Amino acid sequence: MANLLITGGAGFIGSHTCLALLQEGHHLVVLDNFANSGPEALRRVAELAGLEGWNEPGDGFWSTADQRVILRRGDVRLRRDLDPLFASGSIDGVLHFAGLKAVAESIQQPLQYWDVNVNGTVSLLQAMEAGNCRTVVFSSSATLYGHAERVPIAEEAPIRPINPYGQTKAAVEQLLADVAGSHPDWRIARLRYFNPVGAHPSGRIGEDPQGTPSNIFPLISQVAMGHRPELEVFGSDWPTSDGTGVRDYIHVMDLAEGHGAALGLLLAEPPQLLTLNLGSGQGHSVLDLVNAFSTASGWSIPVRISARRPGDSAMSIADPGAAQRRMGWRTRRSLAEICRDGWAWQQANPRGYGA
Ligand code: WQD
Repeated sequence: MANLLITGGAGFIGSHTCLALLQEGHHLVVLDNFANSGPEALRRVAELAGLEGWNEPGDGFWSTADQRVILRRGDVRLRRDLDPLFASGSIDGVLHFAGLKAVAESIQQPLQYWDVNVNGTVSLLQAMEAGNCRTVVFSSSATLYGHAERVPIAEEAPIRPINPYGQTKAAVEQLLADVAGSHPDWRIARLRYFNPVGAHPSGRIGEDPQGTPSNIFPLISQVAMGHRPELEVFGSDWPTSDGTGVRDYIHVMDLAEGHGAALGLLLAEPPQLLTLNLGSGQGHSVLDLVNAFSTASGWSIPVRISARRPGDSAMSIADPGAAQRRMGWRTRRSLAEICRDGWAWQQANPRGYGA
């Protein structure tokens, strides 16, 4: 059991990871500014973990009766929000999800992305050092590979980000490498996600994009619900089996369990800098995903083929071998399970966590 700080823990991947960590017996302090989330996700996580007495004893502060989950509204860029969390010296490790993650938005708002993703991580690492806590799992992304020369993509592939979002992930990875070299006690894992999708099978927690999503899975879900008339497919002339883009879709619960495995490795092994791809190693095209979701939901998904989206690549598929070798982790859930669970969430929560 460890006492963990989870930044951005109310978000899509953070909330699912919080549930996996609670089920492993850990105690969690969650810091989130609710830029893309809210406390309801954590209330449901606590409920799913069988914890009772969720309440709000103070403004911007929530907890379960046994205080195994403590949620604080706060910003990872602010030392005044971070330092008190480390003051007691009881934080054994940090899982750092807080950040902005939309590629198109990053092109429009690079300053915001560099501030939140990079300056936020600088502040966090400074607070960790001041609090003598040197164990961190970082939410990185396969986006930093850019247009990969070959697939499947291994961790040794060149880092060539092609958008500001990917640049910030690459910058933070370099920062973490520099920090790892600055003191012998740092235990750091950089986890490069491929395409996280789906939801917890209970249908109680899932992806709740604010506004119009840019990534495909919530869009397909909204078409199946009848909230959108069709899915726009960006290009059918890619060098792939059916001409549409191929991605490595990973069930969010597989991803959550991968974080638990990486944390366990860091706590059990000597200090190190660990870098791992988290993906299935299988590629599926846009049309594969559309067909799988249509089967899972029982609804047809009308599509309209349009031009390629700037910045897209034909294929992005992980070589998952290192994660298997280093921590005995690999994905366990299929594309059909991804679509089944994503549809269960969408159906039960047509307006996400909203009232
Ligand atoms: C997937 C496929 C599109 C929307 C991004 C981030 C990455 C990660 C996951 C955080 C592509 C096609 C999409 C649509 C479509 N996020 N598509 N119509 O771009 O692979 O990765 O999200 O870490 O960092 O870069 O995901 O879901 O946008 O696209 O045809 O309306 O679906 O062309 O082939 P992407 P995506």
